[in-house]
Amino acid sequence: MVRPSSPLSGEVTISGAKNSALKLMAACVLAEGRSVLRNVPDIADVGIMSRLLEAMGLTVRRREDLALEVIRGADVVAEAPYELVEQMRASTAVLGPLLATVGRARVALPGGDDFGSRPIDMHLASLEALGAEFELSHGMIEGRADRLVGAEVVLEYPSVGATENLLMAGVLANGTTTVRNAAREPEISDLAAFLNRMGGRVLGAGSPTIVIEGVEELRAVEHTVVPDRVEAATFLAIVAAAGGEVTLRGARADHLDLLVEKMGRMGLRISPEADGIWVMSSGRPRAIDVATLPYPGIATDYLPMIVAVMSLAQGTSYATENVFAGRFRYVGELARMGAQIRVEGHHLVVDGLPRLSGAPVQAVDIRAGAALVVAGLAADGETTIHHAGHIDRGYEHFVAKLTALGADVERMD
Ligand code: UD1
Repeated sequence: MVRPSSPLSGEVTISGAKNSALKLMAACVLAEGRSVLRNVPDIADVGIMSRLLEAMGLTVRRREDLALEVIRGADVVAEAPYELVEQMRASTAVLGPLLATVGRARVALPGGDDFGSRPIDMHLASLEALGAEFELSHGMIEGRADRLVGAEVVLEYPSVGATENLLMAGVLANGTTTVRNAAREPEISDLAAFLNRMGGRVLGAGSPTIVIEGVEELRAVEHTVVPDRVEAATFLAIVAAAGGEVTLRGARADHLDLLVEKMGRMGLRISPEADGIWVMSSGRPRAIDVATLPYPGIATDYLPMIVAVMSLAQGTSYATENVFAGRFRYVGELARMGAQIRVEGHHLVVDGLPRLSGAPVQAVDIRAGAALVVAGLAADGETTIHHAGHIDRGYEHFVAKLTALGADVERMD
């Protein structure tokens, strides 16, 4: 339940990145022994990845110091069952590590989701280039590889998931793997840093060409997860909608370059600090144009929250979704709150209004849920967000963080 709140003030600590933590957890399959991950957010998706690793025979536990410990013994069950993959697509990140260590993998083929159809053809084609063979049977992808062999792989598109699977497979392959047109997201660099700490040889992560020299063995190590740039973007949008002055402790401005520029054009005052980002907003945001693109472009995960702010801006904004063409289901929910948004193919035309109107709405995915919170903070009356469990998949202690800034938000039973 969200009520209009303004102005916000104080400090919020940005958690570790969901999209990095999940892949680092999968990478723990690559080394026998005890891996320790710090700054892993306490979110539902981490719970699902923990259950998946446990189904594979690993032990996962949250220590008293909040670090996540993943223990892998000699035997690994090379299977990711449908009931877990269906809840979280990131489960497919175990494909590369399983093929690299066990030489086998049975992973449920994820279906479509709220972003539209989301194939994993590039994951499979790139692992095939390293010598793996796949078969689809009864909804399960069955993969085999005696020993992966390094190869040159040119990705058709800089897919985050495919790049990550390649990194985790190539690191133990025989010989050198070169990935061209690799994804450049900060989460890729975080994974490469983890693999290198484990004894891997990954060069060039963060650039379009990554070179991986395969090694014989990796060892379990400790690592701290990179801060969540999507959570930071969410709080920027929250301040833009509600107004106020907030410090995002731990946020990395260098991972949010283009967004900081765009939000600046919307009228937000933003200043990078030694350990975070300071942000201030007063008055109505201004209209802007935004198009999503692979990193360093504006992330598709930011767009729902940006669109919520656009719906409150002075003037007409244009938003283009280039990454997931079907990712506009949240638009209908914002429309229930009075937002004036026209969908034209993969473009949105947003006519800003001074206020929205609180309404019962539904979170259709993680970021859609966050966007409704952003909208609700600047909507008259009460906004009740149903299926708020989606928000818990990706945001750690969201309600507590918001109320600490002075927002009138509460969780209903
Ligand atoms: C990851 C993030 C997700 C984010 C997305 C884009 C996680 C858990 N999820 O998803 O939050 O929105 O990056 O930044 O890290 N594609 C194919 N075939 C493939 C793989 C991808 O066609 O084999 C297409 C997708 O349908 C999509 C585009 O490529 O249109 C980008 O997908 P990708 O970068 O792979 O995103 P994910 O890794 O799934």
